[in-house]
Amino acid sequence: MPGGPGSYIIGEEERAEVLDVLDRGSLFRYGKEDDPRYLHKCVDFERLLEKTLNVKHALATTSGTASLMAALAALEIGQGDEVIVPGYTFIATMSAVRLCGAIPVLAEIDESLTIDPEKLDALVTPRTRAVIPVHMLGNPCEMDAVMAFAKRHNLYVLEDACQACGASYRGRRVGTIGDIGAFSLNVFKTITSGDGGAVVTNDDALYERAFGFHDQGHKPNRTGVEVGNRSIIGMNMRMNELTGAVALAQTRKLDKILAALREKKARFKAALEGLPGVSFRRINDPGECATLLTLLFETPAYAEAFCGIFGGAPVARSGWHVYNNMEQILAIDPKRYRKHMLPATDAILGRAVNLSVGVVDTGLGAGKGINILSTDEEIDRVAENVRNDVLRAYEKGAKG
Ligand SMILES: Cc1ncc(COP(=O)(O)O)c(C=O)c1O
Repeated sequence: MPGGPGSYIIGEEERAEVLDVLDRGSLFRYGKEDDPRYLHKCVDFERLLEKTLNVKHALATTSGTASLMAALAALEIGQGDEVIVPGYTFIATMSAVRLCGAIPVLAEIDESLTIDPEKLDALVTPRTRAVIPVHMLGNPCEMDAVMAFAKRHNLYVLEDACQACGASYRGRRVGTIGDIGAFSLNVFKTITSGDGGAVVTNDDALYERAFGFHDQGHKPNRTGVEVGNRSIIGMNMRMNELTGAVALAQTRKLDKILAALREKKARFKAALEGLPGVSFRRINDPGECATLLTLLFETPAYAEAFCGIFGGAPVARSGWHVYNNMEQILAIDPKRYRKHMLPATDAILGRAVNLSVGVVDTGLGAGKGINILSTDEEIDRVAENVRNDVLRAYEKGAKG
């Protein structure tokens, strides 16, 4: 069944929260505190996320894409500004930049499959305003280096933590390290409410502007005199109470999900150590989400040969998340964007194969592997199959 770990364990807790809302019939995120029908599930979700991530403000939204757009609006990024994004990410990172009038500037990744901080300085121009490190496949970016780069050039840092809810880097949860962070709660994410998202920040002014953008320019929770007091033009990206109810129940499960995934991944990975010509992508912090396991083959031919036997495709060909496969972005401006413009990224992704641990998603090239419900026996069996198929590919001489 495709989906993220949270989607595999939807149960009584989510059901109770949703029925609670339906029984009272108050589905809008706003209500009067003295109205017994109003259960403020969205607000409770926001407070719980703040506590869980140790951040001052969390704002519930309709999606990760909405969260990115609200965050960019909060940073007042717009027409003609340049924003650095990695060439390996979901298209929403780039489309959010594009749709606020700014220009996505594509950056290389390294063997962690996240943005390569060593190659960022060369991309800066007088119009660069921000960088978006994307914590891909649950792996935190090398944030110390990204923050140092941003400081050197006086840039904002917007963390795209859509694929890494709950991950931490050097003891801090991702999304809370830069100026502002964006999360997704779609069905492929660590925790899910079907669709949904959140913006987080420690900065009061950024929170206020993100809130306004997500709700027609209103002040947080529509407090204060509104008419005559709305400073920005916003949209409607409000979460509703049914979604908030599920998001709340799932957030309560977040740390248990992460603990289970880390245990399962450790077993799976240990069983795949020592294969000839195969290593793993670099994990930048043990606080990663452990949602996926990425094999790095010595050569693209070896990766292709393995996939020919096991199934699936190397990440470079797996579709959605690689800039080469984003025809809408490549079409914006042929002088700025072209296929294979990021040789290091292409070389790494051609050798990389994703296996599921908690996120089962063919769009990520991770349609096969294990999931959060896999028993030890299943993990050992899948690992054995992977081992055998790698060895068969090796014997075919595909490593050369
Ligand atoms: C890295 C990244 N950014 C942004 C998004 C957008 O999230 P959503 O689908 O909730 O709009 C996703 C979702 O797949 C993602 O993986």
